[in-house]
Amino acid sequence: MSRFVQLLAVFAAFLSCNSAEIPSYLTTCSRSDPNFQKCCLESGRRAIPQLAKGDKRLKLRVLEPLAIPEIRIDTSGNLKLTLTDVILYGLGNMQLRKMNFDLEKQTISLDMHNDNIQVIGDYTIDGRILILPITGNGKINVTMVNGAIGYSFQYDIIQKNGVEYIKALEPDVTLVSERTYYKLDNLFNGDKRLGEEMNKFLNENHKEMSKELNPSITETISAIATEIVENVLNVIPYHELVRP
Ligand SMILES: *[C@@H]1O[C@H](CO)[C@@H](O)[C@H](O)[C@H]1NC(C)=O
Repeated sequence: MSRFVQLLAVFAAFLSCNSAEIPSYLTTCSRSDPNFQKCCLESGRRAIPQLAKGDKRLKLRVLEPLAIPEIRIDTSGNLKLTLTDVILYGLGNMQLRKMNFDLEKQTISLDMHNDNIQVIGDYTIDGRILILPITGNGKINVTMVNGAIGYSFQYDIIQKNGVEYIKALEPDVTLVSERTYYKLDNLFNGDKRLGEEMNKFLNENHKEMSKELNPSITETISAIATEIVENVLNVIPYHELVRP
């Protein structure tokens, strides 16, 4: 776990002691509704853009844009890559495509789509990518086009002061993008020709680059989504989240 994720976990644990009013954009569904799943999908679609705007009552920060001090990339071994002073653009445009709330199995799964996520920041890179040596530091731009994000989790029903709530367990998160573009300025101590060649190479081998980068970006998005899920589930008692 990166330090950022640990920090979020501590933050979330701290928040779970507090309770808040339920904002009006969080609408809920009735289990006796024959279109329960459709109702959940619509509620989710209404809620996501509002949640992304941030909400002090739920202690949620603004996601568009989102500043992240550091993303340390855990690569497969021969590469060291750190991103600092990162700004994530595009999280405000998450579209909920599918949702399933399984009351029997106690699982919730969300399939989301994002047209364009940009990761902008400073990078330091050193090592090898595929077979080529790479080194440098400067500005980085990672742009993911048509990302499919899956976020699903099992939950327990817990009691807090005699009231039942849903507690999300460890989520399963996937991120697949149709195409990712990379731009690293100032590679090889600013050697223009080598830098251009390497950027060309990275974009031709974007699938390999994504294999290195995606797990850390997925972890970052997962931590943000988990913060939202936990804070929302914290304020809505189970009997209100799923009405009779
Ligand atoms: C990042 O790269 C994308 C795709 O090449 C481009 O559209 C976008 O303007 C760039 N963003 C910044 C901040 O340079």
